[in-house]
Amino acid sequence: MAPRDPILGITEAFNADANPAKINLGVGVYYDDNGKVPLLDCVRRAESLMMEQSAPRTYLPIEGLAVYDKAVQELVFGADSPVIQEKRAITVQAVGGTGALKIGADFLKRFAPEGTEVFISDPSWENHRALFEGAGFTVNNYAYYDAATHGVNFEAMLADLKSMPQGAIVVLHACCHNPTGADLTSAQWDQVIAAVAERGLIPFLDMAYQGFGSGIAEDGAVVRRFVAAGGPLLVSNSFSKSFSLYGERVGALSIAAGSAEEAARVLSQLKRVVRTNYSNPPTHGGKVVATVLNTPELRQLWEAELAGMRVRIKQTRDSFVAKLRERAPAHDFEFVREQVGMFSYSGLTKQQVEQLRAESIYAVDTGRICVAALNSKNIDRVIDAIAKVL
Ligand SMILES: Cc1ncc(COP(=O)(O)O)c(C=O)c1O
Repeated sequence: MAPRDPILGITEAFNADANPAKINLGVGVYYDDNGKVPLLDCVRRAESLMMEQSAPRTYLPIEGLAVYDKAVQELVFGADSPVIQEKRAITVQAVGGTGALKIGADFLKRFAPEGTEVFISDPSWENHRALFEGAGFTVNNYAYYDAATHGVNFEAMLADLKSMPQGAIVVLHACCHNPTGADLTSAQWDQVIAAVAERGLIPFLDMAYQGFGSGIAEDGAVVRRFVAAGGPLLVSNSFSKSFSLYGERVGALSIAAGSAEEAARVLSQLKRVVRTNYSNPPTHGGKVVATVLNTPELRQLWEAELAGMRVRIKQTRDSFVAKLRERAPAHDFEFVREQVGMFSYSGLTKQQVEQLRAESIYAVDTGRICVAALNSKNIDRVIDAIAKVL
């Protein structure tokens, strides 16, 4: 038997709990204030347009829907990016962000020199290690989270980057670090980008939460800064969260190559990887996202709806901190306000998480909570329970 997925294990335990007041903070999806996964209005309207046109379901090209790839490329790199103007950019539609990482990992394994290793943050999204190991790489950690400050141990991270072997692949979270919620500052990114260039590392940016941090352009700025620094760059992105399209599996892998000619060769190899994995991507989600991104009115609506999710998360962080200050004044949770995105390393210990479980409140053993699973109806019960276990 393969080991159980630790996070899905929480959901199983949650589902088996008969308490009607149970709360699952272990999830990795955005819930609205009614505790529901939203169906965005822009998605509903794009689907209505698609229904009217009612097109046959032929196979998509191996690299995906052309209008999707173009719109996503402009979103990821910025429409005026030199990599697009110089035809050095490649974007292939992928089966979610996971699929994008997998295509990138398989491609790199095929062409990276023997012995090239992958470095991921400590901790990282739990699938990063499995995914790159599955592609045949040795996966190491670089220092990232500092439990004492609830932030990034930047000195240690930078030292690790500077001692990585030349040509190593370094996976970086573009924004809204999962699981910790601790992101780098703009000045720290400058130093990371310089270290990556100095060591000749291959940066692989994982951008699963664009728009959940400070804004679509603000969160994507790190991609543009890597492009400006030159060198190869891989970016996986996902619309699971930003379009609330989890089950449709929509994402993309984008690569900045050195020249148009190199880009053509890279694309040909990516197509080989896709062809031998799943042949070509599914149509529906790609069409929905392309319709929204390419229809000005729907795009505006999407940006507003995404901003709504971002703002609700921020307000929830504020309210979580304020309520805990009242109920547990001896403990400082101010750091939760500084963290970014859907997740927080709350600082709760494994033992405290177990005690919360006895109250039918479920979180990850590491103390990770999904801030978006809190809402105006359940937050007081969660705060009371946390104050009690503290
Ligand atoms: C950091 C990170 N990368 C990638 C993914 C995968 O995204 P998707 O669900 O689109 O495959 C996730 C999803 O939780 C994530 O948190």
